[in-house]
Amino acid sequence: MTVSAASPVSREGLAGWYRRNRERSRALFDLIDPEVYFTRPIALRNPIVFYEGHLPAFSVISLLKRGLGAPGVDERLESLFARGIDPDSEEAAVPRSGAGTQWPARADILAFGRAVDERIVGALHQADFDLAGRHHPAMAGGEAIFTALEHEAMHQETLLYMWRRLPYAHKRKPADLSYELNAAARRPSRARITAGRAVLGARRGSAFGWDNEFDELAVDVAAFDIDEHSVTNGDFLEFLAAGGYDRRELWDDAGWEWRQRENVRHPAFWIPAEGEADPAGWSWRGMFEQIPLPLAWPVYVSQAEASAFARWKGRRLPTEAEYHRAAFGAPSGAARPFPWGDAPPEPRHGNFDFQSWEPVPAGARPAGASAWGVHDLCGNGWEWTSSEFAPFPGFAAMPSYPEYSAEFFDGRHVVLKGASPATARELIRASFRNWFRTNYPFVYAKFRTVSTAD
Ligand SMILES: [Fe+2]
Repeated sequence: MTVSAASPVSREGLAGWYRRNRERSRALFDLIDPEVYFTRPIALRNPIVFYEGHLPAFSVISLLKRGLGAPGVDERLESLFARGIDPDSEEAAVPRSGAGTQWPARADILAFGRAVDERIVGALHQADFDLAGRHHPAMAGGEAIFTALEHEAMHQETLLYMWRRLPYAHKRKPADLSYELNAAARRPSRARITAGRAVLGARRGSAFGWDNEFDELAVDVAAFDIDEHSVTNGDFLEFLAAGGYDRRELWDDAGWEWRQRENVRHPAFWIPAEGEADPAGWSWRGMFEQIPLPLAWPVYVSQAEASAFARWKGRRLPTEAEYHRAAFGAPSGAARPFPWGDAPPEPRHGNFDFQSWEPVPAGARPAGASAWGVHDLCGNGWEWTSSEFAPFPGFAAMPSYPEYSAEFFDGRHVVLKGASPATARELIRASFRNWFRTNYPFVYAKFRTVSTAD
């Protein structure tokens, strides 16, 4: 049986995806030392314990309660673990879940997770989705099922951002850790994208998507040129050497205010050598160990830093519509579902779906290049755009998760496109939109620059 005509996914397929999700989440939590379970690796986020309870609690709320109209599993835990945070400052984080919050022991959270898993897998196998859809708008087209499944996959990526900030002594290093470091020689080159139409978002009812992906929006895009390769750590070293972090004129007001307030001197993924400003001393903050800065890897920075670099080059970041043209457009005028064409995402197309703990050299997955020869538009790090995160015309909050996007249409978040090494393959689709604050430096996000063609 299928969930709906629009999403031909079997019940076994859904239950298998749910189990894969849960196993991966469990493996991620098992990586870390029990001693840091109750700490916040990123001050602006909840402590680790919250997330292990939040994942099953959210599945209960979105799928069982909102979707199927069924009772929950544990009212107290579902309320405690209901919401994440994205406050503006560390002080603002306190009221929502402060130091005074009494968190349950891990054994209790794991027991809650097992009880939830049993209920969810049971529902995926047996619930009458069509009947539920008639009574609960959150189940129209199976919405609440995908909300629960994609939510867990998305959190796995944000967990990894947090794990990276933890001291190495608090993580279990895998025995088979290896890195892809050697890049093929590449010349800095640009692709010229002709003027044309980009179609953002998706047609409502065509398949599952988050609320911010609807409705479809056609945008006419002028001709522009774009870097074929992501800006690398090596490229960004030149920006540092040119005094980029001290040149006020390269930063917009909000970016400069952040750079001053936090005394930002380098990407958050870089570690300077002790007491040394010598570029040769930089290291990469790897997930499990510090390694000499891999010059061929894309640089992961905030949008504020990316914008300053682009301005230094006399260029700018692409808009969301320009990203679409470069990724899904083609010289022939055709639109393609993925940068590489029609084939479903595979490892050869890009560094995504947890293939690696780290980036790979820019341009190392040529099979994933777009029709214009632009590399890594999907994989190896999200792509920052200059576009404010805003609703498309026809936007409606989704019944299974009404607060998903609406709270972030505040003029302070921008859109990211593509995928990172920690993005599950199920999330890879042209209409998917990620968003972060312009000054958030911990996301696996790279960038490239563009210029409007003369
Ligand atoms: Fe969440």
